[in-house]
Amino acid sequence: MDRIRITGGVPLEGDIPISGAKNAALPLMTASLLTDGPLQLSNLPHLMDISTLVNLLTSLGVDITMEGDADDDGHTGRVLTLTCGDLSGTTAPYDLVRKMRASILVLGPLLARAGTARVSLPGGCAIGTRPVDLHLAGLAELGAEIELTDGYIEARAPRGLKGSVIRFPRVSVGATENLLMAASLAEGETVLENAAREPEVGDLANCLTAMGAEIDGIGTDRLVVTGVPRLAGTRYRVMPDRVETGTFAVAAAITGGDLTLRHADADGVSAVAEVMARAGVAVKQKAEGLRVRRNGAGISAVDVTTQPYPGFPTDMQAQVMALMAFSDGAAMITETIFENRFMHVPELARMGADITVSGSSAMVRGVSELKGAPVMATDLRASVSLVLAGLAATGDTLVNRVYHLDRGYERLVQKLAACGARIERISDRGESVRDG
Ligand code: EPZ
Repeated sequence: MDRIRITGGVPLEGDIPISGAKNAALPLMTASLLTDGPLQLSNLPHLMDISTLVNLLTSLGVDITMEGDADDDGHTGRVLTLTCGDLSGTTAPYDLVRKMRASILVLGPLLARAGTARVSLPGGCAIGTRPVDLHLAGLAELGAEIELTDGYIEARAPRGLKGSVIRFPRVSVGATENLLMAASLAEGETVLENAAREPEVGDLANCLTAMGAEIDGIGTDRLVVTGVPRLAGTRYRVMPDRVETGTFAVAAAITGGDLTLRHADADGVSAVAEVMARAGVAVKQKAEGLRVRRNGAGISAVDVTTQPYPGFPTDMQAQVMALMAFSDGAAMITETIFENRFMHVPELARMGADITVSGSSAMVRGVSELKGAPVMATDLRASVSLVLAGLAATGDTLVNRVYHLDRGYERLVQKLAACGARIERISDRGESVRDG
């Protein structure tokens, strides 16, 4: 298994191109199941999760062609054209769903288009139990008959789906996306209350609108969908990745560097930018992107609580904890979205961080130095927090289980190395390999 070796201590300087957002791209790709017309998506990142979904959609009968690829500095993105003339199946098998939980997003579209769907229950994962009850209750509210058998969700809507009022008892990005897609082809009006406001939900809603869906309230927590009999293909550009943006913003801050994050959009990262500003990091929107720098000054401790958008994102919690490990005070970091998202804490502690976890909060007392060490993590954002810590630590950090990073960060090693980081990917045979 490949590893990443980092020799810390270099302030990063230069430009980093921000890729298309993984968490927008995945639901957008599943929207191809809703129409027999071609859906052309551009600015897709080259990531393992995208390939996993390509395999799943292909197995359901979606014809997928790819053009273009990331260029040398990784900013072109790929263009996929997805055409689902006829469905060839309605089952999402365990082997594919197990690899990527976002596979659950085929449930709503399959049910709406074919009136039947069989999707493996995803099960828990490294960050929490992650049930799908809200997806199922919402679809049942639209008239689907749902049974759980042999680890599979069996959903049927023989007479089609019918609009209804659904109030989510808690905010769920995935359930909002599944219901938006299903409601687009349901009969009559569906109201989604307490809907997720994450920009990726907005990206999906805008694409569905371009496909002919009627959706009001995009960007708010009340979405009103008037079902239409059919949707058409369209062309749509995936939004920039706000978690990648936030992650590289922390890279600039933690190394005392100066980075311009090209194509980044300040609007989607305002909660992260606010924490940065309070920590003493300058974040400025420029024509070419976001400029993030910390020249000379220390890092002030800032308390952070994760919340649904527009609050501070759970997907940035581990990265900001790495930053706070170097602060000149004590920061309380509280995770309210997932119950087991502190897997990076013991690994950061192995590098010398002073962190005490109590329930869903972590008290991070800043130290003047972290020391490189071999580390590993069990999910994507936890893994990248260790890369960030390694960039600012003294000595060598060896990050194991790089496949987590391949799921969600396009050309991470190349992008950081281009800004001066001493970082390389090492194959299991001990050779230095190109990141791609
Ligand atoms: C999305 O996951 C993202 N994934 C996650 O990003 C992100 O952390 C999460 O939203 C929160 O922002 C994708 O977009 C592909 P949720 P999702 O449904 O949709 C509970 C990353 O690192 N819940 O908003 O699965 C759930 O357990 C990943 O890129 C239920 O109880 O998250 C959690 O506590 C990781 N029942 C909370 O709601 C349900 O039916 C929010 O989850 C659904 C969710």
